[in-house]
Amino acid sequence: MDSGIDRLKEWIAESNNIVFFGGAGVSTESGIPDFRSVDGLYNQKWKYPPETILSASFFARNPEEYYRFHREKLVIENVQPNRAHKRLAELEAEGKLRAVITQNIDGLHQAAGSKNVLELHGSILRAYCSRCRKPYPAERMNHGEGVPRCDCGGVIRPDIVLYEEPLDQDIMSSALHYIRHADVLIVGGTSLNVYPAAGLIRYYRGTKLALVNLSETPYDGFADLVIHEKIGEVFSQV
Ligand code: OAD
Repeated sequence: MDSGIDRLKEWIAESNNIVFFGGAGVSTESGIPDFRSVDGLYNQKWKYPPETILSASFFARNPEEYYRFHREKLVIENVQPNRAHKRLAELEAEGKLRAVITQNIDGLHQAAGSKNVLELHGSILRAYCSRCRKPYPAERMNHGEGVPRCDCGGVIRPDIVLYEEPLDQDIMSSALHYIRHADVLIVGGTSLNVYPAAGLIRYYRGTKLALVNLSETPYDGFADLVIHEKIGEVFSQV
């Protein structure tokens, strides 16, 4: 077994205060492309750059085009949690892992059984009216045609954080609290390029920060252990 993975396994075995912070790379082994890899969402051809489509001003201006992108690119059928999601859920059930903090909007941590999941960027499994805030089932938003509308006439929107929108302050504070007090912090499947989420890991105070990511990140030098391997494979060994 790889020595980095051995070390991570030891840290996990010895701790009951582990926190996980992750991103799109956690779900690629479930068949959901990430954003910034060569085959990621941001490198696919689309009429507008995805960062533009996924912005609040674009959504307000052009909800038709937003929904075309949303249904074609963000909603992926029949995805299942992979070994990383499942092992994290097990670690929580064993009383070892305190929280999963995720930038993902796919709901796969909860599908794997994780209970304490802090969704920094929301979820495409929830929807609400952008005018009166009435909640709606996600079904019609994710699978229907055209722009879904509320009884009040407002546009129904996904409960995700679009570019130009602030993150939920309660979720941010809670994430910060877990990270600040964690014994072991495992960061995985994220390029750590998107703020303010990426900046959260600077609040970690311990000496066991493990970074599990296929490619290098700006925080590799900040971590106590760096593993450049597939996260599902790593979690199947720890
Ligand atoms: P990125 O696409 O920026 O980064 C994903 C990282 O995961 C890359 O560095 C990959 O190398 C790595 N990766 C891919 N598959 C992996 C695997 N099987 N095992 C380990 N690592 C793997 O995605 P995020 O960092 O999540 O925001 O991006 C952050 C935010 O940018 C997203 O939440 C989204 C996006 O714009 C919003 O939509 C607001």
